[in-house]
Amino acid sequence: MTTTLKIAVAENVDLASYDTIAFGVFTSDAGLEVPGGDGSDAIPSIIDTAFAKRHHFEAKKGQTLVIRQEQEGPTVLAVGCGDGSSQENWRHVGASVVRSSVGRRALLLLPILETPATGVLGEAVTTGALLASYSYSVRSDDPHEGLESLDVGFVNGGENPELLVGVAAGIAVAHAVSFARDMVNEFPSSMTPTKLAEEATTLLSSAQRVTSEVWELERIKDEKLGGLLGVARGSHQDPRLVVATYSPEGTPTHHVVLVGKGVTFDSGGLSLKTAGGMTTMKTDMTGAAVVLGALSACHDLGVRATVTAIAPMTENMPGGEAIKPGDVLIARNGTTIEVLNTDAEGRLILADGLSLAVEMKPDAIIDVATLTGAAVVALGTGVAGLLSNNDELAQSLDEAGKLAGEPLWRLPLVEEYESHIKSEIADIKNIGAPGEAGTISAALFLQRFVDETPWAHLDIAGPARSEKTSGYLVKGGTAFSLRTILSYLRSL
Ligand code: BES
Ligand code: MN
Ligand code: ZN
Repeated sequence: MTTTLKIAVAENVDLASYDTIAFGVFTSDAGLEVPGGDGSDAIPSIIDTAFAKRHHFEAKKGQTLVIRQEQEGPTVLAVGCGDGSSQENWRHVGASVVRSSVGRRALLLLPILETPATGVLGEAVTTGALLASYSYSVRSDDPHEGLESLDVGFVNGGENPELLVGVAAGIAVAHAVSFARDMVNEFPSSMTPTKLAEEATTLLSSAQRVTSEVWELERIKDEKLGGLLGVARGSHQDPRLVVATYSPEGTPTHHVVLVGKGVTFDSGGLSLKTAGGMTTMKTDMTGAAVVLGALSACHDLGVRATVTAIAPMTENMPGGEAIKPGDVLIARNGTTIEVLNTDAEGRLILADGLSLAVEMKPDAIIDVATLTGAAVVALGTGVAGLLSNNDELAQSLDEAGKLAGEPLWRLPLVEEYESHIKSEIADIKNIGAPGEAGTISAALFLQRFVDETPWAHLDIAGPARSEKTSGYLVKGGTAFSLRTILSYLRSL
């Protein structure tokens, strides 16, 4: 599925050969400015304020206005880019060109700006365009409509190595996100742990400087992954755990371990969810898809740190062998866990994933999980929760999230709430106090498995899915946080 849109850098621009010619428009004090416009009919340098007003065009990010449309020749499209200074605005420009172009072939003319620099700008429009053109469907008669190719370039042509690099980076990022979205969107009886591990292996086998391993049931037992084994007991599907590592050329600057929740379907187990609560639970493996997708792009993006991805994968089902409320599991690091609600399964499998991560003695651990309904209540579907034992790491991720257009909001690891996860009989229990700080108590649970390692937890339960197609999001899996993680890794 993914996308069939071809993006290329136009060198000697032949305007007449396109169905649509698009360019960005800024809001500036002078009015609606077209940076890079040459004042010709096709590319004006300013948009008439009265004309814009009549069409309610204010050059807000992603807003479009048809400037010229005749029987013959290209349609000319103005695309708002706000004040034009952020990557996020330019991603929306790329997305709007895809959504509003007429015909099959479009050209997006770019300005040369101080910020964002040409490479960043090229990457942003490429990423936005490719992510907006993403689709997933298993319909038997899916007609392919819409844009076939998008060229990006400058009004006065010429080779631009920076732009080429930026476009290539955008393609790598979008490829990783499309992989993750595909994994999430595939229906859950198809996307089993076995299938997810296989797909990840296929993806990573074509990535450079990446090695990967799949642990099957026997290995998972030998390695004493008690949380993962416990959750998997209720399912006919065997669990899997994927461990993959990217090693950069030269001496690595850091070692970061990413851990992703891979529950391929969350029925709740014996603590069964409601019918409504279950309908989107194929999304519950987003964390695994995100960390594996991110790893696949590290080489192409020139990441200088060693990056390991650990993804425990299982279904959470209420089969005859399922764990029961009241059961005790022993996690990889020896911690005993009283399971009082089998629907709080994510933390059980992450307990093992985090324990393995700590054993690698990395500089930082980041876990990604659709972990709590409470995060959806607190932050909605546009923002992910960020919880961390390390201010520097939290701040770096917060900045990376801003650049990526994936906002994170930090919640505190309130020490007093440790009492919420105290168990009568075991080291901890897997649920907190009813109706209180569910996202925080889940994170406090996870913190028990990271020792002193700098660690951040991203609870993406809300933004992992989008209920509408808009901007560069497409209804379904979003792979939220994947671009943030890449942005963070590239900063190391
Ligand atoms: N996968 C869910 C969390 C979730 C809920 C993600 C809604 C996306 C949308 C998780 O496994 C879960 O069921 N959490 C429970 C924990 C509770 C039983 C302590 C929850 O949040 O209700
Ligand atoms: Mn659950
Ligand atoms: Zn879950």
